[in-house]
Amino acid sequence: MSAQIHGTQHFDEAVREKLAFSPEALQTIQKLMSRYPEGKHKAALIPVLHVAQAEFDGWLSAEVMDLVADTMKILPIEVFEVASFYSMFNLKPVGKCQLEVCRTSSCWTRGAEDMVEYIAKKLNIKDGETTPDGMFTLKTVECLGSCGSAPMLQCGAEYHENLTEEKIDTLLERYRAEGTRKNYTDLDFKNSK
Ligand code: FES
Repeated sequence: MSAQIHGTQHFDEAVREKLAFSPEALQTIQKLMSRYPEGKHKAALIPVLHVAQAEFDGWLSAEVMDLVADTMKILPIEVFEVASFYSMFNLKPVGKCQLEVCRTSSCWTRGAEDMVEYIAKKLNIKDGETTPDGMFTLKTVECLGSCGSAPMLQCGAEYHENLTEEKIDTLLERYRAEGTRKNYTDLDFKNSK
């Protein structure tokens, strides 16, 4: 069923059968769903997709979307519709640190284009590409709501504002030294009831 529903995405039944959320992730998902009345729990889909993306290497394969659908008892196409609409969800593998540089007006007029070019040159990748070591993905996105501190970029739960080439150098060095995946959920849900 899912192979057709996910359209162009490759779906592997054998991979899907082995896929499961960790107990911690499942607990978080159940907590998120419990915020909504019976029959309305689909409203939790966006935060649930964040949990799923963090759980499975920063992207949502067809198998992961199918797992989300089964867990939430909704159709895989409902998951795909949301996952394919928002830029924060990735439908293909990405680097551990996804550098999302805002390209909307405030950031653009304050030098975002130069920042994108600087990162691209430094990492030897283009917009949308990932470094061969799997560490960084460069992605340009629409306004991230931090226009007063333009130009800026987001990486996981962190905002980096008033960007300069020096700040980018320091940031990339830190991320390389840490070597860990940065997720949107790094700050979320931990203290939620
Ligand atoms: S224009 Fe860049 S954060 Fe709004």
